[in-house]
Amino acid sequence: MTHHAKIQINTAESGPVISKHIFGHFAEHLGRCIYDGLWVGPESPVPNVRGWRSDLVEALRAIKIPNLRWPGGCFADDYFWRDGIGPTEQRPRRVNAHWGGVLDDNAVGTHEFLDLCEQLECEPYIAANVGSGSPREMREWVEYVNAAAGTLADERAANGRKEPWKVTLWGVGNENWGCGGHMRPDYYADEYRRYATYVQDHPDATVQRMACGPNEDDYSWTEVMMRQCAAPLYGFQPMDGLSLHYYTLPGGWDNKAPARPFDQAGWNEVMALGWRMDELVIKHSAIMDRHDPDKKVALVVDEWGAWYREEKGTHPRFLFQQQTVRDAVLAAINLNIFIDHCERLRFANLAQVVNVLQAIALTEPAGGRLVLTPTWDVFALYAVHQEAMRLPITIETAQLAHVEKSFPQVSATASLAENGQINVTLANTDSVHEVEISMALQGATSKTVQARVIASPELTACNTFDQPRTITTTDLAGVTLSGDQVTLTLSAASVVSLNLS
Ligand code: AHR
Repeated sequence: MTHHAKIQINTAESGPVISKHIFGHFAEHLGRCIYDGLWVGPESPVPNVRGWRSDLVEALRAIKIPNLRWPGGCFADDYFWRDGIGPTEQRPRRVNAHWGGVLDDNAVGTHEFLDLCEQLECEPYIAANVGSGSPREMREWVEYVNAAAGTLADERAANGRKEPWKVTLWGVGNENWGCGGHMRPDYYADEYRRYATYVQDHPDATVQRMACGPNEDDYSWTEVMMRQCAAPLYGFQPMDGLSLHYYTLPGGWDNKAPARPFDQAGWNEVMALGWRMDELVIKHSAIMDRHDPDKKVALVVDEWGAWYREEKGTHPRFLFQQQTVRDAVLAAINLNIFIDHCERLRFANLAQVVNVLQAIALTEPAGGRLVLTPTWDVFALYAVHQEAMRLPITIETAQLAHVEKSFPQVSATASLAENGQINVTLANTDSVHEVEISMALQGATSKTVQARVIASPELTACNTFDQPRTITTTDLAGVTLSGDQVTLTLSAASVVSLNLS
């Protein structure tokens, strides 16, 4: 059975700019994300530039990665930045207490990470240690990275980097309600104000301080943080962003579902849980609006994505999981939600880059082959929205349901690029029915339309090292443009992009 949906896009009305930072990524010292993922080391036979795996760098550049968050995650609040500077062979070996107790030899530290960001041409977003650290350590890390002169700038130069990196995005702790110290909101708010005070700006490096925000629907955390940290303190603006973490976790923490196989209920569960992001963003934003009507403080979703049971035969604390087209649709609806709320929601980071959770790529152990996941394809299609102007959109579509949670069949977003082209991205969250779409582009004078689709031969198929492009992006046929009307069919379980020029 074919379903029908109607979409109206007003191309003449102006909207907010979609921050490129909504399309950010996250790399933690966890499992095989950094070591034996991004980092193969300078001596590796795997092609690399100063230790960073070239094919992965290329894959991230291809999707225009705007920022990369590091070093955690839970790891951040147990990380001492001085462990990761100076001659590599003299760096201490530390136990990674959160993620399997493996030894971290600190081969990757500040200089290496910032070299990676330069190779990626993206902005670094560094999460500092609040849980087991001190304001002084954070202040000195910022100074080491950003100062033009002084003792720490001299130390940095002695370690091989004369010019400051001018890193502006700094997180003050991570999940301090949980692995980052199990703090209560009032306590963290006071700690946050103390840390934020000592994090200093340096020439051409005005720091944006990102506070730890709520876990999922902990609205009281947001209330406390906004009440205590959003307003200027004696002329000092303590908080620029408040981070929300929400994972799509079918089955729950104690009984996580595998990435595959799954049945229709399993498909719908992921869609319904994915759509929950919309409710969370709306409710947290409403609290933020009350305290900060001018939207000075950004909502920062700096951890999101699917979290399944680890793949059989892999370390339970390494969080390695496969992906299917279900994850492509999940990524698309999340990005559409972020764009929909982009006045307040100005940063987001998918967890994590490689080999961990909803990665854009997987690699074989010991520097083997690399395979791109369907999530990479989604980020490739969505890159056109970076810094474009969001267009007003209304969608009339069927509602689907999982247990008591309903969610729309069609998710869509539209933007106007600087070159005058209109880009529309759509997802069909229905794993069974295709949907015929009638789209009116009010005010548009486009002459041509190009359409691409991400689809899978089977719902539970995945990209493997032997068959790396089973799920891929191809041209979509059958799209018509007549005047300002577009018609197309979204096959079940698909993600589509339209480019109108
Ligand atoms: O991304 C994996 C973990 O999930 C992070 O370390 C932590 O912040 C979150 O709980």
